[in-house]
Amino acid sequence: MSIPAIAVHGGAGKWNVSEDVKKKALTVLRRAVDVAYDILVRGGSSLDAVVEAIAILEDSEIFNAGVGSVLNAVGEVEMDAGLCTSDGVVGAVCCVKYPRNPIKLAREVALKTDHVLLCGSNADKLARALGLDPHPGPSQRVLEKFRELRSRIDSVSYWRKLRDVLPLIERGGTVGAVAVDKQGILAAGASTGGVWLKLPGRVGDSPILGAGFYSSSRAAASATGLGETIVKALATLRVVNYVDHGLSVEEACRKVVGRHSKVFGRGTIGIIAVDYRGTVVAVHNTEYMPVAWRTSEKSFASFKGIQL
Ligand code: GLY
Repeated sequence: MSIPAIAVHGGAGKWNVSEDVKKKALTVLRRAVDVAYDILVRGGSSLDAVVEAIAILEDSEIFNAGVGSVLNAVGEVEMDAGLCTSDGVVGAVCCVKYPRNPIKLAREVALKTDHVLLCGSNADKLARALGLDPHPGPSQRVLEKFRELRSRIDSVSYWRKLRDVLPLIERGGTVGAVAVDKQGILAAGASTGGVWLKLPGRVGDSPILGAGFYSSSRAAASATGLGETIVKALATLRVVNYVDHGLSVEEACRKVVGRHSKVFGRGTIGIIAVDYRGTVVAVHNTEYMPVAWRTSEKSFASFKGIQL
């Protein structure tokens, strides 16, 4: 029997928001780990714990995922999500518009189809066929931010604009979770609306195995930050490989985030990870990364993990 543990994050970034929003974000993260930890202590799977935790974050509207997803260059929601376990479950969806909870659709892809990744309108069709809840459309806050960004950024859709957009983004970029269950199975997942004003069809790291999420039988990791850099680095694969070769989860995350800062600059990544013994860590090179976790020893929530 293993000792269960769960960790979640609400996106690495500047989090230049009011104290009230920060308080709400931590409250939702705490609720997500409490619900997930309850699943784990009752003998449930790390896969279900990760999915239920992420679904709570997707529902909250505070984070850039699910109901709170940001909009692409033409004002549409396009979401990515993915998950995996240490016993070979892998499922992901990208560029989906229909589901309220892309992470639940990713679990359906993993458990009910022969595939690992479905994209766009055909993934949306599957969500409808399975009776998943529909996305309610962008919130007032998201619509207002879209109008503000479009008025400040040249309205041409197809050009390099990320450098201009990023300084205007005040929140984090993704949500994610990692867990280990009583059976010793580890799981990792990620879900996101991507980056503001992205080109329609852009896919980030969150649905890419080894980039946004990865797990072996020793460690599971979930990443947040600038998706293109995380895909280029295969950041979570690196973390898990380091642990498989003998590093602690903290040493592995420090090494990967440190390298990321050197290669891509600071403000680009955050990672949460858990090992098979239930040790949890959160490391980021951004100003903030709201995190919460529960282990047999500790219940923790903060706007910062280990900041490099
Ligand atoms: N990390 C989320 C994204 O870049 O899509």
